[in-house]
Amino acid sequence: MNIPIEVNTNKTDLNQISSEIQKNIDLAIQKSPTGGNSKPFACNWKDNEIHITYSAQLAKHYLNRNDHTSYISLGCLIKSIEVAASKFELLSIVNLSEDKLNARIKFQKQNTSMHISNLFDSLMSRSTYRGKFKKSSNKNLRSQTVQHRQAEISIDYQFNQSLTKKFKKYLTQSESYMWLQVCALKDFISEIRFFSHLSSQQQRGISSYELGISIVDQALLFLLKPAPLVLSFIRRVPILNFPMLQNSSRVLKNSNFCLFRTKELNPLSLIAVGEVAMQTWLEIESQGFKAQPMSLATIPIIDAKAGMLPDDTKEQFKKLYSESGIQVINEQFSLRTDLKIVWMFRFGTAE
Ligand SMILES: Cc1cc2nc3c(=O)[nH]c(=O)nc-3n(C[C@H](O)[C@H](O)[C@H](O)COP(=O)(O)O)c2cc1C
Repeated sequence: MNIPIEVNTNKTDLNQISSEIQKNIDLAIQKSPTGGNSKPFACNWKDNEIHITYSAQLAKHYLNRNDHTSYISLGCLIKSIEVAASKFELLSIVNLSEDKLNARIKFQKQNTSMHISNLFDSLMSRSTYRGKFKKSSNKNLRSQTVQHRQAEISIDYQFNQSLTKKFKKYLTQSESYMWLQVCALKDFISEIRFFSHLSSQQQRGISSYELGISIVDQALLFLLKPAPLVLSFIRRVPILNFPMLQNSSRVLKNSNFCLFRTKELNPLSLIAVGEVAMQTWLEIESQGFKAQPMSLATIPIIDAKAGMLPDDTKEQFKKLYSESGIQVINEQFSLRTDLKIVWMFRFGTAE
């Protein structure tokens, strides 16, 4: 059974999608982000529809448990397609499969122009930014709550000058999850493409150059790839771990944050958060900012709620992700503490 998640009556049926439209939608598909650049969705045109097919095998990456990041990535993909289609005054009608990981999208002519069509240029130039930010002004971004696909989603901004010490500490702690949890570290290193300049759009995985860390850290990761235990040990030892700690604080400097929360943590809500977050990402970029998802700070909170933290999770992280971290984030962002934390970006002016 397919569940239609968007119904619109003000439309004209479409006989043929031109090759130009298809080309632009295909570009949007390539530009859409996926967790760990895992690219688990294949998109194929069948008549005038796009069929999205999910590969559980490709979706395996260090942070994807219970398909949480896959649902969010699917939401990003749906929004990217919608933005490209809207440029041609086409409305996207999405049908999700029962497991909510496969979908069909058809298009209908809409005779009015759509707001999101303005975001197409931002989509074409979007990339994940992992470098430093310089000081920036707050611009025109307002926290708000939206209803999307039956889900209530809050979008909350916090600007650099109002970040609490507790929140910054939490971010550093959550980033260290990557180094201290040996299984996650092993998976993460195995997904890195060392010495490859190919961009993320050309290949799966993340190249070591894109990580935003120094050449020394890249070399350290490469050399210690077969020995994650040693790397994890180094991360604990003061002085030895200095470059990594320095990288964490460098990444926080001048960063602003945007948090997404929702009422339910079911697949449909996570997809809806992906859509809203993707639109927000493009709106942020259209104001001249660059953004980076901070998934280590939020996705394991969803995993913990679903009882899906990996078996080797250390007590300190269990506590962080199931209690103290939630409290710290909600204190920092306050507005809708009744909603559940899903995803967060840092953003700012690229150096
Ligand atoms: C659900 C999801 C989670 C992500 N988490 C992170 C993250 O924690 N850190 C990060 O640097 N990028 C993260 N990304 C961005 C992807 O790594 C990135 O989109 C992918 O590598 C493609 O690169 P591009 O965005 O520059 O095209 C995430 C993307 C998605 C969709």
